[in-house]
This record gives sequence, C-alpha cells and structure tokens, in this order.
Amino acid sequence: MAEHTLVIIKPDAIQRHLAGEVIARFETKGLKLVGAKFMQASEDLCRQLYDVHQGKPFFEGVVKFLSSAPVLVMVWEAEGVIEIVRRMMGATFGCDAEPGTIRGDFGCSRGYNLVHGSDSSESAEREIKLFFQPVEIVDYKLIDADWLYGKND
Ligand code: RTP
Ligand code: MG
Repeated sequence: MAEHTLVIIKPDAIQRHLAGEVIARFETKGLKLVGAKFMQASEDLCRQLYDVHQGKPFFEGVVKFLSSAPVLVMVWEAEGVIEIVRRMMGATFGCDAEPGTIRGDFGCSRGYNLVHGSDSSESAEREIKLFFQPVEIVDYKLIDADWLYGKND
C-alpha cells in the first residue's frame, strides 16, 4: 500500500483563509486525500502530537497555539508522500523557508507556520492513529491515477 502522512492545516492558516490554497497544492501535485477532519484539538491531543518535543522551551507555546482555534487534519497518500509533503511545506518557519514552499510563500512569522506534516514513517503511523480511526481512512482509486503516476506495463 502507498505511504500515508498526517497533515494539519494549523489555526493561523484557517484564520487567514489559506486552507484551500494548501489543499490545492497537494491536489495538483497528484497526492490523494484519504482522510479529513475539521476540529478544535484539545491541549492533551496536541501534547501527544508533539510528544517528542516535551521539555523543549517552545513545547508549551506550540501546544497552546495548535489547540487555540480550529484546524483541518488530513491524511494524504502517495508513494513517498511523507518526504514530498515535507519538501512542499518548507523549513519550519516562513522567515527561513524557500519561496515556492507553503511556509515560504504564505508567511514570515517566527512562531506560526501554517502546516504540520509527519517527519518519518514512524511519526506518520503514530500521528494518524492519534486523529483517525482506521474506518475513517478511505480506500479508493483516483480515476486519473494511471495518468498521474504513469504505467510501466
Ligand atoms: P511540524 O512538526 O509542526 O510539522 O513542524 P516541523 O517538523 O517543521 O518542526 P519541529 O521541529 O517538529 O517543531 C514542531 C513545532 O514546534 C515549533 N518550534 N519552535 N522556537 C523554536 O525554535 C521552535 N522550533 C520548533 C514550531 O511551531 C514547529 O512547527
Ligand atoms: Mg515536526
């Protein structure tokens, strides 16, 4: 099965009406949306998401930010999708991110950064389970898959 990754359109992107822009980038890249949920995440859930950062100076701030307002949580599918999404997101903060990336094109904050994407297959598996039940991940075929990915047979 193709790889999955967790993407979160963070509170600043929702408030700035950028959700459609972000989704459009992933759609036009040819990634497949297989799960989506609009919600306000609890502090507890955000603590679990950023568990690896417990104890770091920015941990509490990040948890407060992510739980402060609604987010759109999604699962995207493609071969290599974890790395593809990370490269499309750009460096952690917009002030450092390359133009052409989501963070590079839509922000210059040193605190808010619009999107989250899993950083490894282990993180993706753990993070998807935090937000989605298995039945909420939809298995289907894109009708243009052969044209998106090519056929070698
Ligand atoms: P994310 O997990 O949200 O996709 O972001 P990331 O991989 O690019 O960055 P990560 O190192 O995982 O950090 C998680 C979130 O913590 C905040 N952060 N602040 N002040 C700082 O030095 C600092 N470093 C990280 C960011 O909000 C980042 O998204
Ligand atoms: Mg991270």
